[in-house]
Amino acid sequence: KRTIPKDRCIDNTCKLLMEGYLFIPNRCRRYKTDLFQTRLMGQKVICLSGEDAAEIFYNNHLFTRKGAIPKRIQKTLFGKKAIQTMDGPDHKHRKSMFLSMMTPNRMDRLVKITEKQWLKSAKQWERKDRIILFNEAGKILCRSACQWAGVPIRKSEVTQRAKDFSAMIDAFGAVGPRHWKGRCARNRCEKWMKQIIKDTRCEKIYVPEGTALHDIAFYRDAKGKLLRPKIAGIEIINVLRPITAIATYITFGAVAMHTNPECEKKIQYDEDNYTHMFAQEVRRYYPFGPFLGARVRNDFLYNHQLFRKGTLVFLDLYGTDHDARIWYQPNHFWPERFKYRKGSPYDFIPQGGGNYDTGHRCPGEWITTMLIKVSMSFLANHLKYKVPLQDLGYSLRRMPTLPKSKFIMQKIKLV
Ligand code: HEM
Repeated sequence: KRTIPKDRCIDNTCKLLMEGYLFIPNRCRRYKTDLFQTRLMGQKVICLSGEDAAEIFYNNHLFTRKGAIPKRIQKTLFGKKAIQTMDGPDHKHRKSMFLSMMTPNRMDRLVKITEKQWLKSAKQWERKDRIILFNEAGKILCRSACQWAGVPIRKSEVTQRAKDFSAMIDAFGAVGPRHWKGRCARNRCEKWMKQIIKDTRCEKIYVPEGTALHDIAFYRDAKGKLLRPKIAGIEIINVLRPITAIATYITFGAVAMHTNPECEKKIQYDEDNYTHMFAQEVRRYYPFGPFLGARVRNDFLYNHQLFRKGTLVFLDLYGTDHDARIWYQPNHFWPERFKYRKGSPYDFIPQGGGNYDTGHRCPGEWITTMLIKVSMSFLANHLKYKVPLQDLGYSLRRMPTLPKSKFIMQKIKLV
């Protein structure tokens, strides 16, 4: 009988905060395993990594999300009672609302809006000494997301709202001030959105059909009830915040293009859908979501190991996207690998795995790829710029992480 390797410790939360994205991969390597047991936040946690483990993790009969997301994450990143905390038929019903926003036409509209926003912003950069790409991309995406979703936003509001969305995301791996900044940002944003939902419902603001705000404000659950304004507000934030978050991938993408100059040429030629492969490799290679949590629904056996009902289980996203059994030379940035990839719903999981409608896999995955593509294509085809000396390195300890300088650009010219 095999037993699962165990971390000998009273609690490993400090080590998790110190090792960040590599906490699970380091132990899988050390114990030569795909699963091990540890203690985090005062409780037993089983950590899983790899494609087979992802398939188990996304089996709804075995796992539930109830009680899996710590309150501190709900108060910053997701919001209380948001879709991320739901299960079963209620989850499926609400998920169908998010998925109905992702028709080719509607996604295409977002791409066109974003392209226009890049152009508008870039015209202003020509007059500036330097810009920080991460901050600028966040504003572009925040503006585009609001316009696409039908959410009214004043020009003077954009900087603060984009910062707030960013602060909610920045809080997920934090204790102390970074966490509190995220909480304040969420409170401000929820207040804003709750009012917007009320105004939409009483037609104080006009919102066309076929927009995310209209969908969410008038969505009726399986029992035919409208969402409470606070919950509806949280769900519209669940659209605007992650679109703004794509600034992280755009910043990493710019770093990838700068450090691998052949990529820029290839994006310009875009042969064999190269820009698409580049965007996929950015999502695979660079760290964003480190792992996900769920609780065992009922006792089951996996790999000779008993998973007891109620146990907290983490699935390693970053490690699975760098698993050498799936990815040839995983620590090498190589977009062409996607030309040959057969793929499964469980092997490439930067935004979760499994299926979209019955599971929790991110409904914004297509949008994410499309917006990385349009942004990289804009940088490669329409901008000339200098990249001054700066620290483009990023820490794998900090969650979430970014290139230290956030990508400074100078002498920008539109071409
Ligand atoms: C869920 C990552 C962009 C909306 C998720 C999950 C991850 C993720 C890891 C959790 C999957 C799970 O629990 O199994 C990301 C990343 C993004 C991104 C890294 C890009 C920066 C988007 C976009 C949208 C979106 C653009 C919407 C327009 C959502 C929603 C969920 C979700 C609503 C909850 C789904 C559910 O619980 O069923 N995302 N996402 N995300 N994402 Fe994204």
